[in-house]
Amino acid sequence: MSDDGPRRHLVLVGLMGAGKTTIGAACATRLARPFVDTDDIVEANTGMSVSDVFAQEGEAGFRARERRAVADACATPTPAVIACGGGAVLDGDNRRRLHRAGFVVWLQAAPATLMARVKDGSERPLLQGRGTATLERLATVRAAAYEAAADAIVDTEDRAVAEVVDAVLEAYRP
Ligand code: S3P
Repeated sequence: MSDDGPRRHLVLVGLMGAGKTTIGAACATRLARPFVDTDDIVEANTGMSVSDVFAQEGEAGFRARERRAVADACATPTPAVIACGGGAVLDGDNRRRLHRAGFVVWLQAAPATLMARVKDGSERPLLQGRGTATLERLATVRAAAYEAAADAIVDTEDRAVAEVVDAVLEAYRP
């Protein structure tokens, strides 16, 4: 990890469909910073899609790779915007690492809204064919982990991307 100060990154967490990638990329443009996505790191390191990693290595294999991706993202040498896969903060080590290296914003939306954003969920192995009920269950099961990870919460419901970006950057305290 570089030593240019703790908590320098802006980190986005939340359920699938919360807008971490879209909002993160837009925040990175506004801040003129690199944008890093832990799912992209897993895909680059494996040469496989996240779905294929789940299919070949199971969720446990994916989580091990995700943990390394979180460490790599936190080690980005210049201040960055980091979008985490929705389940990354379930791991206590990931939570602590992200919290040390960045300011963590939890993007929220209602399960039906999340479901509409991920469309049929076909690129999300945890959702396939299971829809909104799965997102409702994950929202309940994961709430404590997101809460523990978050320095700030931003509601994305009924808000345009630019409005959410404004709210995130307003909440951000590097
Ligand atoms: C997951 C979320 C996905 C991806 C994987 C598992 C999760 O990322 O990491 O499918 O456990 O919530 P996004 O939140 O970017 O969709």
